[in-house]
Amino acid sequence: MKIHRCRHSNVNFMTYTEAKQYLTAHGQEHLLRFYDTLTVSQQQHLLEQISALRLERPQFQDRNALVQKRGKFAPLGALTQEEMQNKKAEYRKIGIQAIRNGKVGAVLLAGGQGSRLGFDHPKGMFNMGKTRDLYIFQCLIENLLRVTREAEAFVPLMIMTSVQNDAETRAFLKEHHYFGYSADNVHFFQQETEPAVDEAGKILMNAPDQIVLSPNGNGGWFSSMQRAGLLDLIGKIGMEWLNVFAVDNVLQQIADPVFLGATIDSGCASGGKVVSKATPDERVGVLCLEDGKPSIVEYYEMTEEMRTRRNADGTLAYRFGVILNYLFRVDSLMHTLGSDFPLHIAHKKIPHLSPDGTLIKPAQPNGYKFETLVLDMVHMQDSCLAFEVEREKEFAPVKNAEGVDSVQTARALLEQNGVIL
Ligand code: UTP
Repeated sequence: MKIHRCRHSNVNFMTYTEAKQYLTAHGQEHLLRFYDTLTVSQQQHLLEQISALRLERPQFQDRNALVQKRGKFAPLGALTQEEMQNKKAEYRKIGIQAIRNGKVGAVLLAGGQGSRLGFDHPKGMFNMGKTRDLYIFQCLIENLLRVTREAEAFVPLMIMTSVQNDAETRAFLKEHHYFGYSADNVHFFQQETEPAVDEAGKILMNAPDQIVLSPNGNGGWFSSMQRAGLLDLIGKIGMEWLNVFAVDNVLQQIADPVFLGATIDSGCASGGKVVSKATPDERVGVLCLEDGKPSIVEYYEMTEEMRTRRNADGTLAYRFGVILNYLFRVDSLMHTLGSDFPLHIAHKKIPHLSPDGTLIKPAQPNGYKFETLVLDMVHMQDSCLAFEVEREKEFAPVKNAEGVDSVQTARALLEQNGVIL
């Protein structure tokens, strides 16, 4: 098919006739429904998006084929709290030295949509305070500052945003002077997007010239960093480890020197912070082995036997739940570039245009988003140190507005850890 170059950008795009043929061949011709009502620049905008769709990909052909085939699982032991007790000082020294030598960078995954929280801004802007302002971004940066003060060196902080929340995130952090972090050590990069579909597999639109493009999950962070030129920075500084973490754990310990020291000392290519599962049925992914390589098995993938299997000392065999705080050795991450990540399907509430052009905000999940996940990157590593941390001190996720893992539970945990709200 002939591809034309757009006059206003460097993007190549199809003509209307080509787009129509292409979409019709894939059952997506409704995307041109409003074409005749658009201005010329809106028409070009839409044609650019259509040209970038790559409808031959499996998510647009057969969603069921995306279901991941898993290998043979086996439990993976962790470096437990008790085991590391008398080695903590030694690990801390190794970790602090690595930070001082510029070997460590931090990557904040903040490109999610936080739809369960129902907050209309980037999740990091959510205010956890009761009597004062205490934003989620602030909680994280203050935790990181404790480490950089001890090390007397900054850790470059690379923040992944999405096309939807990039400008607001940057403006908010700038307005708050990066909560005391050095602006020179904060770098932003944007993740990619994926079109969302309805339950019949039809691509959704949220404006007459706009396809619904959602952040494509947190798995593409390293390739997005490459696209943004940040691997040059990593090479220039000589960073050897990246600590990747989620925005929504307000007790998140970032660039934790003990975790760094233990992982470096272990010789493993990666490390994952884990907490002991509270009950066999807790809905958390567990760090384990899959075909002899580190992997994370989701709670819904575990059989009853796996969920309830016990070690001789009575502890659960699959006991160590991940909290989205990983260390990756940069040289091992390089091998993941260009790899095909499994695509995960998320059933979500997706605002969209009805055929008559009305914007619908559904109350129930109405469609699917496709995501790659950072946990699949763990399986691409040769080894991973499971590093146990105390749940009450390091894990306070803000996922929901109410109930489990909510603002309320996270506030209680912050207070329990002496944070004034
Ligand atoms: P979640 O899996 O909780 O997704 O993200 P979410 O989009 O933030 O929230 P819901 O599911 O819509 O309620 C875990 C971490 O991964 C980041 C999030 O910002 C959070 O730090 N993430 C998620 C991204 O950076 N990009 C994504 O596309 C998805």
